[in-house]
Amino acid sequence: MARALSAAAAVLPCSLLFLLIPLRASSQNSSTEFIFNGFNTSNLDLSGASVIKPSGVLKLTNISTFDIGHAFYGVPIRMLNPNASSFSSYFVFAINPRVSGQGGFGLAFVVAPKTRFPGAEAEHYLGLFNSTTDKDPSNHMLVIEFDTVNGYEGYLDREGNHVGININGMQSKANEPAAYYVNNTDQKEDMKLESGEAIQAWVEYNATSKLISVTISPISILKPLKPLVTTVEDLDKIFLEDMYVGFSAATGETRSFHYVLGWSFGLNGSAPALNLSQLPLPPTDSESSNSYRPTVVAIIAVLCALTVCLLGALVFYTFIRKRFVQEGLEDWELDCPHRFRYKELHTATKGFKESEKIGVGGFGSVYRGVLPTNNSEVAVKKITRKNSEEGMREFVAEIESLGRLRHKNLVNLQGWCKHKNELLLIYDYIPNGSLYSLIFDRQFDGFVLSWDQRFHVLKGIAAGLLYLHEEWEQVVIHRDVKSSNVLIDAEMNARLGDFGLARLYDHGQMSHTTRVVGTIGYIAPELARTGKASASSDVFAFGILLLEVTTGRHPIGPGPFMLVDWVIECHEQGQLFDVVDQRLNSVYTAEEMRLVLLLGLLCSHPQPDSRPTMRQVVRYLNRDDPFPLASLGSVGSRRDNNINSRFLELLLSDAAITSSNALSSIGAISTSSLGSGR
Ligand SMILES: *[C@@H]1O[C@H](CO)[C@@H](O)[C@H](O)[C@H]1NC(C)=O
Ligand SMILES: *[C@@H]1O[C@H](CO)[C@@H](O)[C@H](O)[C@H]1NC(C)=O
Ligand SMILES: *[C@@H]1O[C@H](CO)[C@@H](O)[C@H](O)[C@H]1NC(C)=O
Ligand SMILES: *[C@@H]1O[C@H](CO)[C@@H](O)[C@H](O)[C@H]1NC(C)=O
Ligand SMILES: *[C@@H]1O[C@H](CO)[C@@H](O)[C@H](O)[C@H]1NC(C)=O
Ligand SMILES: *[C@@H]1O[C@H](CO)[C@@H](O)[C@H](O)[C@H]1NC(C)=O
Ligand SMILES: *[C@@H]1O[C@H](CO)[C@@H](O)[C@H](O)[C@H]1NC(C)=O
Ligand SMILES: *[C@@H]1O[C@H](CO)[C@@H](O)[C@H](O)[C@H]1NC(C)=O
Ligand SMILES: *[C@@H]1O[C@H](CO)[C@@H](O)[C@H](O)[C@H]1NC(C)=O
Repeated sequence: MARALSAAAAVLPCSLLFLLIPLRASSQNSSTEFIFNGFNTSNLDLSGASVIKPSGVLKLTNISTFDIGHAFYGVPIRMLNPNASSFSSYFVFAINPRVSGQGGFGLAFVVAPKTRFPGAEAEHYLGLFNSTTDKDPSNHMLVIEFDTVNGYEGYLDREGNHVGININGMQSKANEPAAYYVNNTDQKEDMKLESGEAIQAWVEYNATSKLISVTISPISILKPLKPLVTTVEDLDKIFLEDMYVGFSAATGETRSFHYVLGWSFGLNGSAPALNLSQLPLPPTDSESSNSYRPTVVAIIAVLCALTVCLLGALVFYTFIRKRFVQEGLEDWELDCPHRFRYKELHTATKGFKESEKIGVGGFGSVYRGVLPTNNSEVAVKKITRKNSEEGMREFVAEIESLGRLRHKNLVNLQGWCKHKNELLLIYDYIPNGSLYSLIFDRQFDGFVLSWDQRFHVLKGIAAGLLYLHEEWEQVVIHRDVKSSNVLIDAEMNARLGDFGLARLYDHGQMSHTTRVVGTIGYIAPELARTGKASASSDVFAFGILLLEVTTGRHPIGPGPFMLVDWVIECHEQGQLFDVVDQRLNSVYTAEEMRLVLLLGLLCSHPQPDSRPTMRQVVRYLNRDDPFPLASLGSVGSRRDNNINSRFLELLLSDAAITSSNALSSIGAISTSSLGSGR
């Protein structure tokens, strides 16, 4: 201790000496073991470039050229007692190169009789020696080097990225390329010291066997049983009585940040285990330095300017977005449906892969997806819009309210996401497809929806529409009731989808012309005339749907065929049941069938006033009220004015001839599926 004191006195400024003396006095019995789960300034003697960052990371060098940094435990350790004691040290370090693969020069764990090394050089000497003092036996030093640059003395240490055990200089007694032994086998796994990742290291000395061993491993791997480098060295002859332990690091032309994240040390036995969860993370920064050459400075200046521009754009974007969010979304966030992250949807649908597409509707494509967060299946509808942010804002506000609709006969809207000019709507995934496909597309595989199933489905649709029209806090007009918008769930319940969307779509258009939105064959005459959708025009479409489901026929075509006219004709001739779907094989309840057919006619009455409300419809279907035969009036007179048929014909010819008139904005579905009435 006296020797160490005089050595320290020779090199230390007086002020530091004063600092050391009290530490030393209090350390007589406590300096044999210590632990740093992250660092603070207490008990550390820093010099050169070393600093402790607020995060608790000990940074030995910054990224300047020829930088040197030291950090020693502030209290010397009694190493000879009278012979060298066993000791072990465990630490976690990280080396983050300025340019990947071209960092330098390395880091060393040091046991030395002093903490300052005047005249020492950077680069391969790691801030500990110079060409005069290298290999000098009077150094009394053990140096474990974690060197990342090859070429010391031209031929020694040929490899960079190695771990070496050195005595009194930078020439290694033993060294190995950085690696660890896997699972106590002879198989080695290579490691890259300057990966920027945290690396664990253990340095141990066994006083009995005089064996020095060094082991490293990635932070996630437990200490390998077999050390990477070992050498036998009698430290009794190297060490002085009191020794300092610590770290040194240096850069050169090539440079890295050198960090130590945690450190423990113990005499006679193993060093205390670090609590890895408490350690700071290795910084990933590339801090700027004031010692760059002018060209580098210029490049940095340009990059800074670019960054400022980008930041400006970001702030601007954030501002716009914030306004958008504030005006459209506050309630939205409070209520059930929420904004989804695009990334999540992208993952869920495997990048909107073609194979995940389950349908193409009027407003966009629908994809099946599995949300990564909770593994639940969803349907994602992707709507591409050409219009402005303005329209989008209204759109989202509408979805806000639609998202709060909840009914067992509706396809629940779970949320939405805006990405560029795409709007994504996330719905519950309904497995059995649409009513349309169950009636029409399954004709050839022998599947037939039974009458009981059809009746149940129709009652479900009616209940869903009633909820939209009357039972929710505001009236929601569906505007596009049709068989392809009715999905069938696993229990064969009807789930009405796409409610309100038609109106939303309409909102976005920057035009003052009134448009008819809906699907040909289901559009009520007054809707075609005035463009004004109402609960009553939904009832009309529902009437057509009733007829479609009972007859298994499309509302229009082929040719001049009009489903409503045909049903009326058969009814007039007293052959109402002739219209019933042949595939039912006459298996149905005549009473129910008759009710549904007549109700279909009543609902699709050309006069809106003559149609029942959805509440009445539900009561008729449930037999709560008897069907009002009188209100059907004379089907003959109804047919005479023939408004319905003439309108449909007119619609058809219009849409077929011109694609740029108002009618074509009915939407892609309508024009592309005129023939099928889909
Ligand atoms: C260290 O020594 C002091 C007295 O010198 C004693 O009070 C203290 O308990 C000792 N600490 C340990 C850890 O042995
Ligand atoms: C500094 O670290 C030591 C050892 O980890 C700890 O005992 C001490 O409380 C810390 N001091 C401060 C100010 O955080
Ligand atoms: C110290 O080492 C010497 C030889 O190197 C040996 O003779 C002596 O017994 C050792 N002392 C202790 C306490 O182990
Ligand atoms: C090496 O450092 C010592 C002081 O520790 C100094 O006397 C010597 O001149 C230095 N040698 C070189 C080559 O710089
Ligand atoms: C090491 O062993 C563990 C289980 O004991 C095993 O999971 C792991 O794959 C093994 N590693 C290698 C590289 O064989
Ligand atoms: C040190 O080495 C001796 C002899 O090889 C051995 O018996 C002993 O277990 C070792 N001690 C430790 C802590 O490994
Ligand atoms: C370490 O072990 C040596 C020899 O067994 C003993 O003399 C010394 O007091 C021990 N040191 C500590 C700090 O336990
Ligand atoms: C490690 O630190 C964490 C967080 O501070 C703590 O919850 C945990 O108990 C510690 N583990 C041990 C073994 O001390
Ligand atoms: C890097 O450390 C050196 C001292 O070794 C100091 O002169 C320089 O200003 C530091 N650079 C930065 C960017 O901190």
